[in-house]
Amino acid sequence: MSHDFNERTLRRGTLSYKWDQGENLFGDPEVLPLWVADMDFKCAPAIVRAVNERAAQAIYGYTIRTEEYVQAITGWFRRRHHWDIDAAWLTDSPGVVPSLSIAVQSLTEPGDAVILQSPVYNPFYDVILKNGRKLAESPLLLKENRYEMDYDRLEELMKDGAKLLLLCSPQNPGGRVWTKEELVRLGDLCVKYDVKVVADEIHCDLVLPEHRHFPFASLSEAFAERTVTCLAPSKTFNIPGLQTSFTVISNRELKRKFDRMIEALGIGSVNFFGPSATMAAYNESEDWLDALLGYVKANQEFAVRYLDEHLPELTPVPSEGTYLLWVDCRKLSLSSAELKRLMYKEAKIAFNEGSLYGRNGEGFLRINLACPQDLLKEALDRFSSAVKNRGE
Ligand SMILES: Cc1ncc(COP(=O)(O)O)c(C=O)c1O
Repeated sequence: MSHDFNERTLRRGTLSYKWDQGENLFGDPEVLPLWVADMDFKCAPAIVRAVNERAAQAIYGYTIRTEEYVQAITGWFRRRHHWDIDAAWLTDSPGVVPSLSIAVQSLTEPGDAVILQSPVYNPFYDVILKNGRKLAESPLLLKENRYEMDYDRLEELMKDGAKLLLLCSPQNPGGRVWTKEELVRLGDLCVKYDVKVVADEIHCDLVLPEHRHFPFASLSEAFAERTVTCLAPSKTFNIPGLQTSFTVISNRELKRKFDRMIEALGIGSVNFFGPSATMAAYNESEDWLDALLGYVKANQEFAVRYLDEHLPELTPVPSEGTYLLWVDCRKLSLSSAELKRLMYKEAKIAFNEGSLYGRNGEGFLRINLACPQDLLKEALDRFSSAVKNRGE
């Protein structure tokens, strides 16, 4: 079945977090939003059907998770990622970020050091610092325009007593899809120093054609024993507003601790639309996802070509996964505040400004490519004119 990702759907005035905050966040309601990781594409037809059927029931009561729902999840990971997940390892959660926070709370004590690799999705900082844990930062190394892990620094932090590592795989915002070798090398260090791992693999399905995602916990029994994997259909199928996600924890003791916190917070029940949408996604929308990945790749190639032609002083970091493009703008010699001004006031567009993801993100911008190509072009045209007219 073919899918029309070129259709420009009007999202202004729909209570959209992405489209209806122009005035509030950027000082102008007309700013074109290519920031938060939410796609401007209609969902797969099977999901729309399933949600409409649920809505038509007209009573939105408490909802159960069924055997079929669990099988939809386990079947998907077996088919797409060659990972056999036992139903007993699953816990429902309203979101990956809540799961990250609960994992930090249940697997560490206040004051413990928790490792992250920057630049990284900004809530990673919040779930460490706002839970009273200590930030142990291992900056990624940008080598030949591709991020790599700094194993020496990671080992140093582990030797110094870090208790937990937050892994972003695939990596947001840098777009790396970590290879098996890279993950095994990281995992071996975690085993050696007895560091637990929270693997945020929400972008696992958004991997561009010649790359492969390896679930960290699937790589060895020893890795699985120390890992909480956080997953969701939300990023893959553009249903983040349904607040439906889950964790996979095979170690019974870790799972008991995690589940106890979910119960203490009273957030264990599922969203009314969640299981139906998840089943429609995982059981019936694979062709939509494959078409989407082709479209995102074409958008990435388009943006890279565009920048090369019109703004050669900017260097895009090629994405292997996610629908995000991380662009090195350091040659413009602009501060974070100046880059924001250039985007919001001059160009009237909003990409994400890089320092949000860590100090080493300063001078970078993150572009959300999951939009119709003409919208992407319009945003790049506006940005390119603003860069050229700067200072006039
Ligand atoms: C790495 C990563 N984790 C988590 C999330 C959000 O997860 P949730 O909406 O389920 O809390 C995002 C959204 O962009 C993300 O990029």
